[in-house]
Amino acid sequence: MTPHNEAEKGDYAEIVLLPGDPLRAQWIAENFFESPRQVNGVRNCLGFTGKWQGIPVSVQATGMGQPSTAIYVHELLNVYEAKTLIRVGTCGGLTTKVKVRDVVLGSAASTDSAINTPVFAPYTFAPAADFELLKAADDYAIAQMLEYHVGGLVSSDTFYLEDPAKSYATLAKHGVLAVEMEASTLYTLAARFGARALAICTVSDCLVTGEEIGSEDRQSSLDTMVEMALTVATQ
Ligand code: HPA
Repeated sequence: MTPHNEAEKGDYAEIVLLPGDPLRAQWIAENFFESPRQVNGVRNCLGFTGKWQGIPVSVQATGMGQPSTAIYVHELLNVYEAKTLIRVGTCGGLTTKVKVRDVVLGSAASTDSAINTPVFAPYTFAPAADFELLKAADDYAIAQMLEYHVGGLVSSDTFYLEDPAKSYATLAKHGVLAVEMEASTLYTLAARFGARALAICTVSDCLVTGEEIGSEDRQSSLDTMVEMALTVATQ
């Protein structure tokens, strides 16, 4: 048990999917897992464990943003001995070549957060995805003929910006594809604990054109991401 998690040691599988939204965690467990059971309900930040194709798997909501994500991820790695963590979420496209509904596999995650600054000073750490997971996800996306991209994410601490397109212009110029709010700390913590991590994000909106997807698209994109995450995590 931890201050944020009532699960006992052994309640989580080594593979954990990480949506931000607790109800999405529940939906994933109910629709993809064999015999799911709830392992965490503290703060309604739901966690479940079950099996997928006979393999033990878990899903744990992270909440939004890096501070919340860091709590759940740290505890999954430090207390519950998770080994493979895959974020399934949404992101905002920073360039017109990244279209809404596309999938972005985050090979690296920049951030405006100071979360790592004191830890690595005088260096800056470059949080990166696990190559094995990234390669497997790339293979899966090709086989399924998905519209997808591999590249940098930026994990922002701020959703509402005065002028988002302008704020991210320099990052976009340096090849960063999309903004979300969690991957950077996920990659950092996975590196710290010698675990594997990947962020799979569907583009829910484009910060350049203002286009957004609706709720039906969000649901079908979640299906695709969960299938991909479970396939690559269990390979
Ligand atoms: N900003 C931050 N996170 C996001 C966005 C965004 O525009 N879209 C989806 N996740």
